[in-house]
Amino acid sequence: MLAPRKRLWSTPLSAIDHCLEWIPLKENDFVLDIGCGDGRILIEWAERISSQKVAFLTSLSFLGIDIDPDRIQECQSASKAAIATGRLSPEIRMDFVCANALESVELFQNATVIFLYLIPRGLKQILPLLKKHASRMRETIRVATYMSKLPLEDDDGKKMIIKLLGRATCRVEHQREAAWPLYFYEIRPHGAEK
Ligand SMILES: C[S@@+](CC[C@H](N)C(=O)[O-])C[C@H]1O[C@@H](n2cnc3c(N)ncnc32)[C@H](O)[C@@H]1O
Repeated sequence: MLAPRKRLWSTPLSAIDHCLEWIPLKENDFVLDIGCGDGRILIEWAERISSQKVAFLTSLSFLGIDIDPDRIQECQSASKAAIATGRLSPEIRMDFVCANALESVELFQNATVIFLYLIPRGLKQILPLLKKHASRMRETIRVATYMSKLPLEDDDGKKMIIKLLGRATCRVEHQREAAWPLYFYEIRPHGAEK
């Protein structure tokens, strides 16, 4: 298990301000949230991009994977509601899949940007798949983790270049004193374009 299923712990939406700054989306980007919960991060991110009316809107894809079928239903209802109210452009491709993300790296499709809010043990389990995915894609993957850092190992740099791009602090709605970290990484297989 990458994170508890019984209670939904969500990333505050203020995280998206930092994602937009640290990992700005470019043409053909494919954003994946592994353990997407109720989909709020992907939907907010896509709504913000929709409102910016970027020229490459139709080239973007968003995908959420969650092991809990109830969560996937919530994601689907929320994305439909966002389209119906005009907050989310129907031109952006957005899908939600119910699956165990640890089963196969194929589930990550062509993700170029990956968002993770998992327990430290979940990050440890997912890291080998992230590396496998970056090798398979032969391109730089950008990763954001909320709360915990990626548990990098000493020899991670031998097979690919894994760089911490930066760190931001997220405000938490309804908790005036609370602020939690977000980390931004680049995972680049040797020889891959930046
Ligand atoms: C802490 S929540 C994060 C929700 C959302 N990404 C966010 O940032 O607000 C983690 C989610 O991971 C899901 N999860 C746990 N293990 C999983 C697995 N093996 N495969 C896919 N999803 C999993 C849980 O059902 C839960 O919805």
